[in-house]
Amino acid sequence: MRVLKEIFDNNKRWADRIKADDPEFFSKLSKQQSPEFLWIGCSDSRVPANEIVGMMPGEIFVHRNIANLVVHTDLNCLSVIQFAVEVLKVKHIIVCGHYGCGGVKAALDPYAHGLIDNWLRNIQDCYRFHHERLDALGSEQERVDVLCELNVIEQVANVCYTTIVQSAWKSGQELAVHGWIYGIADGILKDLDVCTTSPDEIPPAYRVR
Ligand code: CO
Repeated sequence: MRVLKEIFDNNKRWADRIKADDPEFFSKLSKQQSPEFLWIGCSDSRVPANEIVGMMPGEIFVHRNIANLVVHTDLNCLSVIQFAVEVLKVKHIIVCGHYGCGGVKAALDPYAHGLIDNWLRNIQDCYRFHHERLDALGSEQERVDVLCELNVIEQVANVCYTTIVQSAWKSGQELAVHGWIYGIADGILKDLDVCTTSPDEIPPAYRVR
């Protein structure tokens, strides 16, 4: 059990398959990466960024955490955004949530889950902003799924409020922030139509002059 041989065997077959198509693939990639996309998604094992959008290594820069949150004091996520925007000069930042998200479910239930409740607090804040609409829904599943969508929209806004994204816009860098949601049950992505491309689209209170 100490050596997970199967995984190493899989890896060898995967690398051989790619090299069969393009013998130079890995040597070219080792010299540079120039992805156009930053993906901020959930850690859920059923939502693997590259596979869902059919992209190869080198095409998408990825940050994942529980419930795809962008918290303005999270140095990890902010560092990823900074590197992606300032160094890689990605053109698109995609916040991608998914229906049935366990983090969103846990934020809605009344139980204690330990340390993670501090992280999930961010989703409870989002619930509070929209509680009238959410409380009017008929079932728990609907509430979870609508909150999954609202959470993505909230995180898109959080990306736009960062000084990193606003500085990029200010300097004329082309950068669009998108909100998408993925259906685990059918494998289909949906655009939540909240694409933001300039500071004029965010509330004045958050604009950096
Ligand atoms: Co999730």
